Amino acid sequence: MTAIDTNTTALAYRDAMALLASAVHLVTTDGPGGRAGFTASAVCSVSDTPPTLLVCLNRSSSAFAAFSGNTSLCVNTLTAAQRTVADAFGGRTPMAERFAAARWTAGSTGAPVLAGALVSFDCRIVSRTSVATHDVLFCEVIALADRAPNDALVYASRRYYTVPNERTDLRTLRAAERVEGLGNGWAAEARRAALRLA
Ligand SMILES: Cc1cc2nc3c(=O)[nH]c(=O)nc-3n(C[C@H](O)[C@H](O)[C@H](O)COP(=O)(O)O)c2cc1C
Repeated sequence: MTAIDTNTTALAYRDAMALLASAVHLVTTDGPGGRAGFTASAVCSVSDTPPTLLVCLNRSSSAFAAFSGNTSLCVNTLTAAQRTVADAFGGRTPMAERFAAARWTAGSTGAPVLAGALVSFDCRIVSRTSVATHDVLFCEVIALADRAPNDALVYASRRYYTVPNERTDLRTLRAAERVEGLGNGWAAEARRAALRLA
């Protein structure tokens, strides 16, 4: 282990954390505090009884005031096809422009639910704690919008990557199988994998 030089702690820590691969979410809110959203990787499951997750929000974010004034939020986990929306919500873009980059419905809490997200967790904020530069929002999940399996978006080493969904892959492979016939080796393997998953 290398000790961290206290003068470069924040930078060294950020570089180390950048090595961790994480899902990418749009965390959104609406209500008396206004409509706002930001791109987040600091989202974590806390418990399944009751279903609870946490979100870490920088207090210097332009979204902070809205989240402080509202009692609900939605965690919208992005698919690989949604990386442009991740960029729009990643900072320095006015809120109206961020929301114009995608389609939305209102969740049961009133928080904006992203159309086509991998999964959306519609939540009531049950507690808040300030730690260092961030507020940690503990949220009870009130409703879920999960959709057909899709490729996931992952952020690692300050870049976006696609994590292919096995079943999405199989759809492609099955299509290839129809075109190329069963004699093809990888198409036959796809069929065997499909049977295992069915
Ligand atoms: C991949 C990625 C992950 C991020 N994760 C977080 C996070 O977990 N918490 C957070 O407060 N900001 C996070 N940010 C930064 C916010 O999205 C950004 O600061 C926010 O949109 C506010 O920017 P603004 O003050 O210009 O509005 C992340 C940005 C990116 C691109």
